[in-house]
This record gives sequence, C-alpha cells and structure tokens, in this order.
Amino acid sequence: MAEDQKGSFSVPAHIAIIMDGNGRWAKQRGLPRNVGHRQGAKVFENICGYCQKIGVKYVTAYAFSTENWKRPKDEVNALMKLLVQYLRSEVSELHRNKVVLRVLGDITALADECRKEIEESIELTKNNTGLVLNFAFNYGGRDEIIRAVKNVVDDVQEGKINKENITQELFANYLYTKDSPDPDLIIRPSGEQRLSNFLLW
Ligand code: IPE
Ligand code: IPE
Ligand code: MG
Repeated sequence: MAEDQKGSFSVPAHIAIIMDGNGRWAKQRGLPRNVGHRQGAKVFENICGYCQKIGVKYVTAYAFSTENWKRPKDEVNALMKLLVQYLRSEVSELHRNKVVLRVLGDITALADECRKEIEESIELTKNNTGLVLNFAFNYGGRDEIIRAVKNVVDDVQEGKINKENITQELFANYLYTKDSPDPDLIIRPSGEQRLSNFLLW
C-alpha cells in the first residue's frame, strides 16, 4: 500500500482473495481437508470484518471455481454445505453491518438448497450501502468471458447493439464483475502465484 503525503496509508478500494491452502493447512495438522475449509471460512470472516473497519469498499472471495467440480464428490458437497452454513449463520450480521452480498458465477448449476440460500441473501442485502462482498462461486474467468460473448452476440442479433459499438467498456458490462471496479490487490494466501482462472478480464 502506498503511503500518502500525510504519512497515512491509502486503502485499496477492492481486495480480491483467492482462498487457498486450506487442504495443506489441515494436512500439516493431521486433520481432514474439510476442517481446513471450515477454518478458512472462519479466517475469512475476520478478514471481512477488518476490511470493513479500514474502509475497503469491495471484497471478492474466490470460493469455488468451475474447475473445482473435478474434486472428489465428498469435498465438493462439503464446500457447497459450507457456503450454505456460512450464509445461514452470517447473513443477519452482514445485513446489520450494511454489507451487500453478491455472487459472481453460474449459480443455476448449484443444488436447489444452495441456490435458494444465495438468492435469499442477495435479495435481503441488495439495498445496503456498505461493503460489497462478492462470492466467486462456480466462477471461472474463461466461462465468464464465453458467457459474455454469447450475450453480446444475442444483443447484436436482436439489434440492441451494433458490432461497431463494442468497446472494452461495453464488454465489461456483460461480465459477472460489471458492478465492481477492477481489484487493486489480489491476495493468494497459500503462497502459490497463479490466478487459477480468476478475474481474467
Ligand atoms: C481452498 O484451498 C480452495 C477452495 C476453497 C476450493 P484448497 O482446498 O485448494 O487447499 P490446498 O491448495 O489443497 O492446500
Ligand atoms: C483456486 O484454488 C480456486 C479457488 C480458490 C476457488 P485451487 O486450489 O482450486 O486452484 P489450483 O488447482 O491450485 O490452480
Ligand atoms: Mg488449492
């Protein structure tokens, strides 16, 4: 973070976090991977609270990628369940703290219970004015771009836009991230240095 002239630190407007290293954290302690995921969720709650306190406007958490479906079925189910539990236990407090909850990704592919919980949380918090918390869930940057291209093509074919008018600004409006600025800081806690299909645009 850059230090400004008064000697205080400027706060990034948008912090994106690639949640990672849960499995290794658990393995080092001889615990099942799912315990690592639960611990990761707890740490994330603290981080969110801290971000609110210091005035971060947007936090995006990469919690489940389009590639994560390839993990063992039990682990996939546990990750879905964890999101549902997180929302059930946290959403009232997030709402009290004026947090706006949003999801980046295709939630139509999720089990009904999970999708419903997400939709209700989004609906409850949509008019809040505080921190925007984006959950990237069943999110993939490539998937996001292909989906946007298809929607652009539809709109061209339906005459809503002209091909000549397709600009970066216009295209960005077709992405899941359309309502958030680009991230200022991306954190990947595991020590890996790759994007894993996160926020490619
Ligand atoms: C969390 O960490 C990632 C997800 C939330 C899917 P990992 O499960 O990838 O942990 P490592 O990389 O195996 O340590
Ligand atoms: C990135 O972590 C995806 C999420 C955090 C949701 P992974 O652990 O799944 O990514 P790779 O397999 O190491 O690239
Ligand atoms: Mg990992």
